[in-house]
Amino acid sequence: MQFSLNDFLIAVSFALDFVEMDRLGMQSNHGKRTAYLTLCIARRLDLSEEEVYDAAALSILHDNGLSESSLYEQLPQEWNHAVTRFEGSRGHCVIGEKNVKDYPFLTEPEGVILYHHERYDGNGFFGLKGDEIPLISLIIAAADSFENYFKYAGGDYSHEKVLEWVNSCEAGMVSPQLAAILHQMAEDQSVWENLSNDRIEPALDALVPSFEMEVPLDKIRQVTGVFSRIVDSKSSFTRRHSKGLAEKAARMAEYYKKGQEETARLVIAADLHDLGKLAVPNSILDVPRALTPEEFETVKRHVYYTRVALENIRGFEDITEWAANHHEKLNGKGYPFGKTGDELDFNSRLMGCLDVYQALTEDRPYRKGMAHSQAIKVLSDMAKNGFVDNSITKDIDQAFGFVI
Ligand SMILES: [Fe+2]
Ligand SMILES: [Fe+2]
Ligand SMILES: [Fe+2]
Ligand SMILES: [Fe+2]
Repeated sequence: MQFSLNDFLIAVSFALDFVEMDRLGMQSNHGKRTAYLTLCIARRLDLSEEEVYDAAALSILHDNGLSESSLYEQLPQEWNHAVTRFEGSRGHCVIGEKNVKDYPFLTEPEGVILYHHERYDGNGFFGLKGDEIPLISLIIAAADSFENYFKYAGGDYSHEKVLEWVNSCEAGMVSPQLAAILHQMAEDQSVWENLSNDRIEPALDALVPSFEMEVPLDKIRQVTGVFSRIVDSKSSFTRRHSKGLAEKAARMAEYYKKGQEETARLVIAADLHDLGKLAVPNSILDVPRALTPEEFETVKRHVYYTRVALENIRGFEDITEWAANHHEKLNGKGYPFGKTGDELDFNSRLMGCLDVYQALTEDRPYRKGMAHSQAIKVLSDMAKNGFVDNSITKDIDQAFGFVI
């Protein structure tokens, strides 16, 4: 399939940005701004297009490990200042590096996310210094520090403030070569004007090399698998939810003897179905009690965010439907649109049924997962009342009855 990995990343990056907003109180577009500045620096170095392309992906993904909720549980309570919590944790570097290990980069970069908080003078989390640190890590560290710096300087990108930030980077964070580039950039007003929320996206698009290539669906699956892990790691309540749904979607595709291509598309839809949950604060996702009506309204938005993230990706039209319809019900009582049976194709119905089955059978910290027969009983009752597809429920019973 003709596909641009970075177009995909830019499309879903707002979901990652939400994690930073939730965790760090960052403003929106943090990932895009960090990627844009990374590319402004990378473009001034003698790098190949492939290296620049990977630098874009790595900078968008640099803080993907932040969604790991257990990191925050381990930090002392008194560290309630968002940036202190963030800087105080090397865990997000380790988890972030691990999450992207299957990502199909063009240049096999190693350790870039792991070392994105290292400093040239050796005062980073891991104590690497100078040329021991991957170049792209140092660039991302500088770009990332811009966001922190200006958040507290009130987002005023005046020449004087930009120079202040460049000097702060020069004092140990970056190499003399990068410091010289930052000084050059400080004199180029267009760099700073492009950072506003309404200009950042086209500015970033213009800097990313366009490699639209024939990408096999199994490679795209490697990327969506990364996102599935990021989503699952956001909340300890649903630690295996997307992974479990993808496995079950693959099993049902086999049951229905679907071809390789449709199977891969179904699995990709399962990987991404709850992507929008990245935009729901953990303070709501992690409450071990029934949600208040207001909280439930917020949680319901996740499917809408899933749709918004996926619908502009060329070639993902059917995947978007199957992923974003998973809470719609045949009787029109689902969300977000209240679609009815005649608006839901077979794979959307299948995803809806499987999502319920997966949720019922998985263990949560506050309850054991249901046995297969109990879960089928719940699904059958829902089918009787017109919520989910009755024949698909029977097929799920057949397909999983003896294996679970
Ligand atoms: Fe970070
Ligand atoms: Fe960051
Ligand atoms: Fe969902
Ligand atoms: Fe789900």
